[in-house]
Amino acid sequence: MSDQEFTGKRVVVTGGTRGIGEAIVRRFRRGGATVLTTARRAPDTVHVEGLVEADLSTEDGARSVVADVLERLGGVDVLVHNVGGSSAPGGGVLALSDDDWKNALDLNLMPAVRLDRGLLPGMIARGSGVVIHVSSTQRALPLHESTLAYAAAKAALTNYSKGLSKELGPRGIRVVSVAPGYTETEAAAAMVERLASQAGTDTATARQRLMDALGGIPIGRPASPDEVAELVAFLASDRAASIHGSEYVIDGGTIPTV
Ligand SMILES: NC(=O)c1ccc[n+]([C@@H]2O[C@H](COP(=O)([O-])OP(=O)(O)OC[C@H]3O[C@@H](n4cnc5c(N)ncnc54)[C@H](OP(=O)(O)O)[C@@H]3O)[C@@H](O)[C@H]2O)c1
Repeated sequence: MSDQEFTGKRVVVTGGTRGIGEAIVRRFRRGGATVLTTARRAPDTVHVEGLVEADLSTEDGARSVVADVLERLGGVDVLVHNVGGSSAPGGGVLALSDDDWKNALDLNLMPAVRLDRGLLPGMIARGSGVVIHVSSTQRALPLHESTLAYAAAKAALTNYSKGLSKELGPRGIRVVSVAPGYTETEAAAAMVERLASQAGTDTATARQRLMDALGGIPIGRPASPDEVAELVAFLASDRAASIHGSEYVIDGGTIPTV
């Protein structure tokens, strides 16, 4: 592998100012790529290079990202749909309103659908490109307490990714998805601190309880954002030239079945 294997590649990573997305942006830059990323707003404390500010959960936001990316890069070689998450309340599935369900789909499925619609025509015309959808192990292992709408939206994203791969493979474009399990982003680490202080325990105990709630993580720890970024970089590279239409789970063994 060359240190500069992405030199000359134009990469777009959605949701790249924090967490897994930020690690993916850093990994592609280290490989020599030109990278644009998106977020609703620039962080207060750090300068983010190549940032397109827009709310990707809206049609207008997606349209403005497509226009900005095409103006600044002319086209895209690698498109990583990383934006996603859940802000639904706890209390089980009956506590979720129509708006909670709509928000889950608007943030976890529709940004990919809309950006693909705007950015794939260029890839199709060139007959090359890679599209990576960041799903979640919850698409196969849904948690019902507060994130069932998120889990269902990620299941839809994985299904969409597979369908897209069938259409685009014959046109020279690879489509894959990545399903992380519990990944210790800064936000996840802050949540563990909060849980520890609420329960009056230390962070190691709170972290273990969180892992136990998932049914355990056989390797004994969450993944790091950099580990997920490394998998994404591999899948985007020519080293993965015949990997297409499949999903790669990175969860330390959390999903208990084959
Ligand atoms: N962390 C995990 O344990 C885990 C596990 C499985 C799957 N995943 C998936 O991995 C992906 C990244 O997760 P993460 O935990 O790293 O996320 P995160 O730390 O919450 O970061 C989310 C990023 O997306 C941006 N963003 C959020 N809402 C947006 C919107 N409406 N429009 C545009 N940008 C938006 C954020 O910036 P702004 O807030 O400024 O917009 C930020 O840059 C998600 O798809 C998530 O579902 C994460």
